[in-house]
Amino acid sequence: MSEIYKNEQYSIQERVCDLLSRMTIEEKVGQLMQLPAHFGGFTDKLEEWHVGSYLHCTGDDATTLQQRAANTRLGIPLIFGIDAIHGHCFDNHATVFPTQLSASSSWDKDLMYRMARVTAKETRATGQHWTFSPVLCVARDARWGRINETYGEDPWLIGEMAAETIKGYQGDGPNREDSILACAKHYVAYGETLGGRDSYECDTSRRKLLSLFMPPFEKAVKEANVASLMTGYHAIDGVPCTVDKWLLTDVAKTDWGLDGFIVTDWENVRSLHTKQYVCENEKEACYRSLLAGNDMIMSTPEFYPLTIELINEGRIDISVVDTAVERILTKKFELGLFDDMRFFTAEKSSVMGIKPHLDVSLEASLKSMVLLKNNGLLPVDSADIKKILVVGPNAHDVIAQLGDWSFGSMQAGATNDTYHRDQTTTVFQALQKASQVHGFELEFIKGSDCVDENFDEISQIEQALPGVDLVVACVGDTLSQNGEFHDRADLNLSGKQQAMLEAVKASGSPLVVALIASKPLSIPWIAENADALVCGFNPGPYGGEAFKQVLFGEHNPSGKLTVSFPVHVGQLPVYYNKYVGWHAQSSGQLNGEERYIDMPKDPLFSFGEGLSYSQYVYSTIRTSRQTIEPNQDISVSMNVTNTSQVDGTEIVQVYLRDLYSSYTTPVKKLCGFARVDIKAGETRAVDITIPFEELALIDSSLNKVVEAGDFHIMVGSSSKDCDLTVLTINLTKDCVVMKSN
Ligand code: BGC
Repeated sequence: MSEIYKNEQYSIQERVCDLLSRMTIEEKVGQLMQLPAHFGGFTDKLEEWHVGSYLHCTGDDATTLQQRAANTRLGIPLIFGIDAIHGHCFDNHATVFPTQLSASSSWDKDLMYRMARVTAKETRATGQHWTFSPVLCVARDARWGRINETYGEDPWLIGEMAAETIKGYQGDGPNREDSILACAKHYVAYGETLGGRDSYECDTSRRKLLSLFMPPFEKAVKEANVASLMTGYHAIDGVPCTVDKWLLTDVAKTDWGLDGFIVTDWENVRSLHTKQYVCENEKEACYRSLLAGNDMIMSTPEFYPLTIELINEGRIDISVVDTAVERILTKKFELGLFDDMRFFTAEKSSVMGIKPHLDVSLEASLKSMVLLKNNGLLPVDSADIKKILVVGPNAHDVIAQLGDWSFGSMQAGATNDTYHRDQTTTVFQALQKASQVHGFELEFIKGSDCVDENFDEISQIEQALPGVDLVVACVGDTLSQNGEFHDRADLNLSGKQQAMLEAVKASGSPLVVALIASKPLSIPWIAENADALVCGFNPGPYGGEAFKQVLFGEHNPSGKLTVSFPVHVGQLPVYYNKYVGWHAQSSGQLNGEERYIDMPKDPLFSFGEGLSYSQYVYSTIRTSRQTIEPNQDISVSMNVTNTSQVDGTEIVQVYLRDLYSSYTTPVKKLCGFARVDIKAGETRAVDITIPFEELALIDSSLNKVVEAGDFHIMVGSSSKDCDLTVLTINLTKDCVVMKSN
């Protein structure tokens, strides 16, 4: 074989170099193009524009296009990208998982890894190579439509979960058949846009970016070697992420050493001209995007002719394009696309939605259940029940239960509830099965959907209530109320849901609320009036089964919130890792009383909160030493006893506060946790190590430094002060962890 790039005996670097030397300018620019396969007729352009990548190419189209690419002059394979966000959901046979927000309530890193492994195997089996996942955005404002896609509000936890997810997608062995590329997105601070409005301006500083929003991405690059980053839509302090060289090149590629490539989000380049008005024309937009460090351009077709013009005019040096092409080709070689892995060979039925995969989904649904209130009603003994009344729009709604990105590329506009129908058990269906097993009567009044005001289910419910032993109300939101550009200004229960709950309450029947929602809603009435509240967010196909198991005590809930619930939408933002205001100190307390005059300071439910049917007692909490030197990690140990009669799992949390520093710092930030299985009556010793670097802050020169002085280490079962034991450690000397360039 004459061509080096076709010969597996050579190193990837040699093969890339050889291929690059054979490519024309047109072929190189084509490699940077990613076009939609599902509309716009862009698949016709494959040969003419030497297209390097398509997105959302499902079914047999992937084989057909790959075959056409193989027949081109150099035969460079296509790389297919898809939003396999919580499972390879665009394929109707694939395993669907709870959404990222829902699954994050498990605080289970190993589960994240296994969910991603399943997704990688199923995605690869359909000829796709690359998922636009995970989302590393920090959930800051619950009005934002994409809260469901995040791992919640804590940057450290996000980084931990994301790193495992990425390792799961990309695989850790040489087996390329079941690995896909991950894409950490949206780089960066997309969740911080003004008013929770999707893709609006984000007013933040580089200090804050480095303190809060960039650390998860840094971990994704440095610890998990993520193959790609996606540039956010929005602008930060006036500079669209797409043209921010500091973000893309100086930090991600140079400081962190990203060896993969950067892809823009949808139409980012064109939008510099048409939406953000920072470029007078599209050619300028192409020029600035390339120089900033984007390697692949998603869905801006004009990039192809305009970039060729820019090169021919001498405005763009071909070396800039070469570097981007090199990064992309390297990943194609790593995936084996030039060799035996160009076409998928797996027998789909032996991979997609198979029992071991579905079992992981059930496990995820169970671990994602968060018990937020229980006045002793739960778990219910089925022997005591003669009749259950199920009410509410989300009791039998596949779309609300599976959540966004589950229905092909229709996304938020989806109305197709036949998708993944076979896999899904709704709450109503799970209870129906249980009623047959346990012999209780079950009645279901669905009533209106989440947004419908015109249906009169209230009188129907009132009529059904006499003689009922238990009411299970499934409330929340639905797909039309969340997702991209589906932000909400109002976080109250919509439609008739509140009236329905009040009718149940008036009857005096015991009330269990199951919350199936894309985000924290403002539900103080439920917190006060329901007998029990279980939150699943979008809990996946097995969400109904999981709710049923929690209800009857077949599963002891262990999930803890990764995002805080506001008392009222006007209380936003309510994340736990807040800063103390000046007036807050008037009360003389460390955490102060900063609040609106008409609103409590605390969220309705806080980050880290979640009950169990077990009770846990923490004792002998200590740090390995009270005085530490620079670069010494801190070890925290304790005993946790399950004082109840039921086996359970406790999520032990460790927070940190820098007491006095040159800059204001948050009142607390998570720096360690452990999921601990504890049998009834058992005591487990728990050790958690806090890496020294966690003590750091970013100074005004953007250096990462740790300042000498006292730090509080807080240990307990949630982020709430009342759940935490405080210890003090002292650092003897200042220390620079990382100098900014
Ligand atoms: C979203 C991305 C997604 C991309 C491709 C965009 O609208 O912001 O998260 O990966 O579309 O579907």
